[in-house]
Amino acid sequence: MLTDRPSYKALQAHYQQIQQRHLRDFFEKDPARGERMNAEAAGLYLDYSKNRITEETLRLLSALAEDCGLRDRIDAMFQGKKINVTENRAVLHTSLRAPRGQSLAAATVPDAGEPVHQVLDHMAKFANRLRAGQWLGHTGKPIRNIVNIGIGGSDLGPVMAYEALRHYSDRKLTFRFVSNVDGTDFTEATLDLAAEETLFIVASKTFTTLETLANAESARQWTLDALGSPAAVAKHFVAVSTAAEEVAAFGIDTANMFGFWDWVGGRYSMDSAIGLSTMIAIGPDRFGEMLGGFHAMDEHFRTAPFERNLPVLMGLLTVWYNNFFGAQTVAVLPYDQYLKRFPAYLQQLTMESTGKSVTLDGEPIATYQTGPIFWGEPGTNGQHSFYQLLHQGTKLVPCDFIGFRHSLNPLGRHHDLLMANVFAQSKALAFGQAAPAGEPYRNFEGNRPSNTILAERLTPAILGALVALYEHSVFTQGVVWNINPFDQFGVQLGKVLAQEILPSLARNAPVPADDSSTVALLRRYRGLSA
Ligand code: F6P
Repeated sequence: MLTDRPSYKALQAHYQQIQQRHLRDFFEKDPARGERMNAEAAGLYLDYSKNRITEETLRLLSALAEDCGLRDRIDAMFQGKKINVTENRAVLHTSLRAPRGQSLAAATVPDAGEPVHQVLDHMAKFANRLRAGQWLGHTGKPIRNIVNIGIGGSDLGPVMAYEALRHYSDRKLTFRFVSNVDGTDFTEATLDLAAEETLFIVASKTFTTLETLANAESARQWTLDALGSPAAVAKHFVAVSTAAEEVAAFGIDTANMFGFWDWVGGRYSMDSAIGLSTMIAIGPDRFGEMLGGFHAMDEHFRTAPFERNLPVLMGLLTVWYNNFFGAQTVAVLPYDQYLKRFPAYLQQLTMESTGKSVTLDGEPIATYQTGPIFWGEPGTNGQHSFYQLLHQGTKLVPCDFIGFRHSLNPLGRHHDLLMANVFAQSKALAFGQAAPAGEPYRNFEGNRPSNTILAERLTPAILGALVALYEHSVFTQGVVWNINPFDQFGVQLGKVLAQEILPSLARNAPVPADDSSTVALLRRYRGLSA
């Protein structure tokens, strides 16, 4: 067990020594700390000096990572070993962004080499045709609207990347994202679209996901209703999936299918063919730049010493607050409007990965906490909503601030106003301010930790580096907690029960014998008397 490791016990003892120390004190005793406690890679600068740590904390956290075998686990991932043990799969999203001929796993997992680039070439050809107005719909008009249908990793990555890189997107094209099985999502997304100019990308790794198939069925009906002929499906539907048979069974020509592999986890798939909508929006060259940013961070993670390794540092700091300070959450606060869906994207990446309570050896985890809750909103909006709790609440919420030196939309003083708030917030959280006498409600106790991530400007490469940073931070956490961050069995039970319950929602079906709450709810839903 993690908590039995001497390196963990050493951290517990160290925590007892420094838990009362204030960030004011850390900075007073070590005025150069802000110049020293930073690290840089792949265009990202990380200031971690406003954390409740000393050099000794970092040394002990690194020792814990070594003790947990992080180095070997990183190598095992990149080499394509089957580290997703519960699903008996390799974990090779890093091969999706390795330059041609440079996948470290291609020798053992051949698909991770050249086939990755063949799919990218196929995507580029398709994206270029569509962007040039040469992909024609059933009536001969060029496609102008792209609707991505998918959920979870087949939605959150594409929608986040589309929003993040909108500045670079082709404004002649309209993009929509449909994920929820709630019919409102599909209806609103397509309300103002002409079917003859609309292409649906059905994105699903398994091609069995209930929400996605229901939305894809409605999309097909919507297309048929407008265009009249089943032949239209070939021109208006493409698929992104690992499951060719299911795609064919749905009626999509597998020539219009973009494949990927079982070693790409859903939440690690935005740089696979799942990113087709991103590539159509920004073009193959910029998509390639994004992959380059991912790869630069991958190489940094794989080779940099732990004490200068951004994902390792961020992962270990998450462990530090989660396991020693008892922090329950991490707030991610991007000061860039284009990153408005980044916290939502991170929720799946982090919580589907580390929301586990069984070790890799199948032991229940009883003596330590695993995954914290990730949440957030873009600044400065969050400041006028939940920052009150960050500054004066009783909970400790470590924060990640993300900001850029240059705005993509320079407008008067706006960018300086925005960035002044980043620096002010992390300062206020760290150092606080004493209340005037008799006004305790004005007290800012401070000592609230944060990281600040800065980059030049939000480019495709920087987005790739940022996502890879969090992916590998999550990996680091998973290694320390000895869990499998690549499975998601916790989503199964609800799915199965929904299938079981579905028939009893039909008008004449008998209400099943069930727990009294479920029966009462079913009766209410169906308008039956008690
Ligand atoms: O329900 C969770 C999940 O399995 C995610 O892990 C995945 O990203 C999502 O469903 C969608 O799955 P698919 O791409 O197979 O439709």
